[in-house]
Amino acid sequence: MRGSGFILLLFALVLVSSCAVAFDPLDPTGNITIKWDVISWTPDGYVAMVMLNNFQMYRHIMSPGWTLGWTWAKKEVIWSMVGAQTTDQGDCTKFKGNIPHCCKRTPTVVDLLPGVPYNQQIANCCKGGVVASYGQDPAAAVSAFQVSVGLSGTSNKTVKLPKNFTLLGPGPGYTCGPAKIVPSTVFWTPDKRRKTQALMTWKVTCTYSQILASKHPSCCVSFSSFYNDTIIPCQSCACGCENKNCIESDSNQITMPGINTPSKDNSPLLQCTHHMCPVRVHWHVKINYKEYWRAKIAISNFNYRMNYTQWTLVVQHPNLDNVTEVFSFEYKPLVPYPSINDTGMFYGMKYYNDLLMEAGTYGNVQSELLLKKDVNTFTFKQGWAFPRKVYFNGDECMLPPPDVYPHLPNSSPVSSRFGFHNFATVLFPLLLLTIW
Ligand SMILES: *[C@@H]1O[C@H](CO)[C@@H](O)[C@H](O)[C@H]1NC(C)=O
Ligand SMILES: *[C@@H]1O[C@H](CO)[C@@H](O)[C@H](O)[C@H]1NC(C)=O
Ligand SMILES: *[C@@H]1O[C@H](CO)[C@@H](O)[C@H](O)[C@H]1NC(C)=O
Ligand SMILES: *[C@@H]1O[C@H](CO)[C@@H](O)[C@H](O)[C@H]1NC(C)=O
Ligand SMILES: *[C@@H]1O[C@H](CO)[C@@H](O)[C@H](O)[C@H]1NC(C)=O
Ligand SMILES: *[C@@H]1O[C@H](CO)[C@@H](O)[C@H](O)[C@H]1NC(C)=O
Ligand SMILES: *[C@@H]1O[C@H](CO)[C@@H](O)[C@H](O)[C@H]1NC(C)=O
Repeated sequence: MRGSGFILLLFALVLVSSCAVAFDPLDPTGNITIKWDVISWTPDGYVAMVMLNNFQMYRHIMSPGWTLGWTWAKKEVIWSMVGAQTTDQGDCTKFKGNIPHCCKRTPTVVDLLPGVPYNQQIANCCKGGVVASYGQDPAAAVSAFQVSVGLSGTSNKTVKLPKNFTLLGPGPGYTCGPAKIVPSTVFWTPDKRRKTQALMTWKVTCTYSQILASKHPSCCVSFSSFYNDTIIPCQSCACGCENKNCIESDSNQITMPGINTPSKDNSPLLQCTHHMCPVRVHWHVKINYKEYWRAKIAISNFNYRMNYTQWTLVVQHPNLDNVTEVFSFEYKPLVPYPSINDTGMFYGMKYYNDLLMEAGTYGNVQSELLLKKDVNTFTFKQGWAFPRKVYFNGDECMLPPPDVYPHLPNSSPVSSRFGFHNFATVLFPLLLLTIW
């Protein structure tokens, strides 16, 4: 017994340290990779294609999009850019005639908005910095621009890699590693009859940490069931109650113009609730059939200033390996480790419910799912039918406490939901981590 306590403590320590290095057990290789391909040398520098690939399964970059920064190693300038722009030109007074696009030592780059003229575009640019998650839409999980750099090295021996990359997307949370030279990228022509090669390629990898992004969760989960009238609400102040303004849903303020205008710093304007979360996920255990059971998921938006485009929801539940039908969301199993298949992602159907509207009448989306019972594990006891983990847009939501769930009538509330499945789904990845 004492031994197992020690092992638990050890796991807890690993859990804490794993957060510090931005390890997400449900998406262990998730990252954003920024790749620079030098496609030509110029008299005083080079032209590079910069490509940002989002390899995160369920974390996308929403409007107002990404912001990329770096520090030049020498006194480089940016002569021009295609498909993106710097936000500040900086001091270019020492240039006569041809003036650079940006002279700052630490340029800050943003994507162009959709609708720029064709001659100012390149492939995968100009989406307002919005990048889909890899799990939802791999083809849209990319963003690109071209940069022409001057006063830099002009060969792969003299070029110095930019340093100190920073990625905001659109808030904080990402940490980028150093740029590293990698084998040159090979490009194929569309007809696949000719290939060309970058003159030099380097890569930067950025990873996300929810703890760096914000002190509090940004969503919470509530439970209900057909077998008990009790609704288990979100925990009070699940998303932090301090320094938060909110407006009551029956206040006449909400009909005033401008209430839905996003603020410059992207701060929310919340409807007052006891949880103070911008998003709530409700899980309802709806029907029990002989061989199946049915659950209903409803996601509600309490932020008047946010439309969640291309939202994603990740759920961990031991029965997700037997999803039979999902009625009005898209569903994709996530398999972070070959031995674990109890996790899946849900997202909206295109043009139907892929937009979770601002708080108010239309600020919710919902679906039902049908699951096949596995006679050996299925039970309504001990809250088994409720999810073990829930993420909205890649951030983990606050669940009710482990022993709080609608009880089956006459079932004793003795044991918590900590059973074998928690070992398999929580501790096993950590075990892998410790072996690492
Ligand atoms: C980033 O993600 C890609 C694609 O999943 C993976 O191949 C690569 O190893 C990851 N990089 C890091 C440093 O984790
Ligand atoms: C630099 O370019 C030369 C040819 O110009 C090539 O042989 C060499 O492999 C390149 N080095 C790197 C690091 O790309
Ligand atoms: C790296 O960038 C951050 C943010 O732009 C800045 O605060 C920091 O001083 C930079 N570090 C170096 C070594 O340039
Ligand atoms: C959300 O979308 C609707 C319809 O496109 C728009 O009228 C509204 O202003 C948007 N709200 C926000 C907060 O962007
Ligand atoms: C899913 O996981 C279970 C138990 O971990 C395993 O028995 C089953 O073979 C897995 N299925 C797939 C398709 O990987
Ligand atoms: C549940 O799924 C697993 C793996 O996909 C399969 O082996 C098993 O037979 C399924 N159980 C039921 C009751 O269909
Ligand atoms: C319903 O669940 C609640 C919370 O778990 C519990 O306190 C209550 O006794 C249950 N009701 C019945 C009729 O069992």
